[in-house]
Amino acid sequence: MATQVPESMKALVGNRSICARLANYTLGKSSGEGVLVKNVPVPEISDNEILVKVRCVALNPTDFKHVDILSPKGAIIGCDYSGTVAKVGSTAPGNWSVGDRVAGVTHGGLYPERGSFAEYLKIPGDWAWKVPSSVSDEEAATFGVSAVTAMLALNTRLGVPWADGGKEQGSRDTPILIYSGATGAGLYAIQLAKLAGLKVITTASPRSHDLVKEYGADDVFDYRSPTAADEIVRAYPNIDRALDCFSEGSSTDFCVNVVRKNRGWVVTLLDSGKTESQGVKIDFLLAYSIFNSEYQWLPPIGPKFPKKPADNEALRRFYAALPKISTQLKTPPLKSIDGGMEKLSVGLDMLRQGQVSGTKLVVPLK
Ligand SMILES: NC(=O)c1ccc[n+]([C@@H]2O[C@H](COP(=O)([O-])OP(=O)(O)OC[C@H]3O[C@@H](n4cnc5c(N)ncnc54)[C@H](OP(=O)(O)O)[C@@H]3O)[C@@H](O)[C@H]2O)c1
Repeated sequence: MATQVPESMKALVGNRSICARLANYTLGKSSGEGVLVKNVPVPEISDNEILVKVRCVALNPTDFKHVDILSPKGAIIGCDYSGTVAKVGSTAPGNWSVGDRVAGVTHGGLYPERGSFAEYLKIPGDWAWKVPSSVSDEEAATFGVSAVTAMLALNTRLGVPWADGGKEQGSRDTPILIYSGATGAGLYAIQLAKLAGLKVITTASPRSHDLVKEYGADDVFDYRSPTAADEIVRAYPNIDRALDCFSEGSSTDFCVNVVRKNRGWVVTLLDSGKTESQGVKIDFLLAYSIFNSEYQWLPPIGPKFPKKPADNEALRRFYAALPKISTQLKTPPLKSIDGGMEKLSVGLDMLRQGQVSGTKLVVPLK
């Protein structure tokens, strides 16, 4: 079954040459937008996929990082989306019907036929979730990169029990540190850890202290205070796990200092190249592993990433539970940008300039 779907659509695609992207990487900055709105074919779905008419997208730092360094010319940008089902493949799992409200995350920024900053996208039926009527399109679009990263870090790496109440595999006996709790990933991580019954310690700037408490943090420390790590260790002597949602500068060292007495575990979201420090295991997590396929950045010389079927299974489990648990999760505070696809580059630039704090940018594409 299908609605009337056109053959071509508008999409925001990468528009930088490999030389410009390598220069951005080397110089650590970028000039110009690096994207353009282009007419491209509507993706053809496989039997196990659904076609989504995109109604709203959410923006993440990874989107502008792809534009600046990783995205080949013509690759559709964007990961997070919400929308309605426009076509259902003959064997697509998920019991979808045309017109159902749907949301999720796709591997944006690398491919000419995948990416959410487009009028249509394709996705396997069980890699997306059914949006209940209590959740708006804007809210639904934010359960992509940030929420999935928080889930992967907590439930598959740091031994936090799942929020879906399924088979117990984790522990709630020790507290967890969510470093930089006011980030998109941090606000979801605080809530998922609280839903699992953990004590949650977080760090944030004073401007964000009220925000992280509102999302459930039990205790909050200013990451700029030189005594904060020691204060956390004194107050929570059995703390042994941390999620570093910032992963730049000295943030990972801060986390290591907090968990090192218990020879703990730190998950980072950017790669420092370290896998261990002072007896603490450091685990770099890249949420693109949920898509269950090998990929490479800057081929043929860039890094290759393997398939991780267990992470894909975690995505499917999380999205199967989300229609129910989304009612217990607050999205980050939203800032909606009007103007549709043409204004996506404005939002990307706000993120690039570090102008976004404690909010998630969303852009309706209706
Ligand atoms: N590996 C992955 O799969 C993955 C997934 C998601 C995100 N990431 C990466 O994680 C980072 C955060 O992404 P996001 O979307 O969650 O972030 P975001 O929502 O854009 O983060 C904004 C927050 O960063 C905090 N911040 C700014 N400067 C800081 C500093 N010097 N130290 C600590 N915190 C600081 C601010 O909190 P305060 O108000 O408290 O200062 C601000 O509210 C990005 O680099 C992103 O690319 C990686």
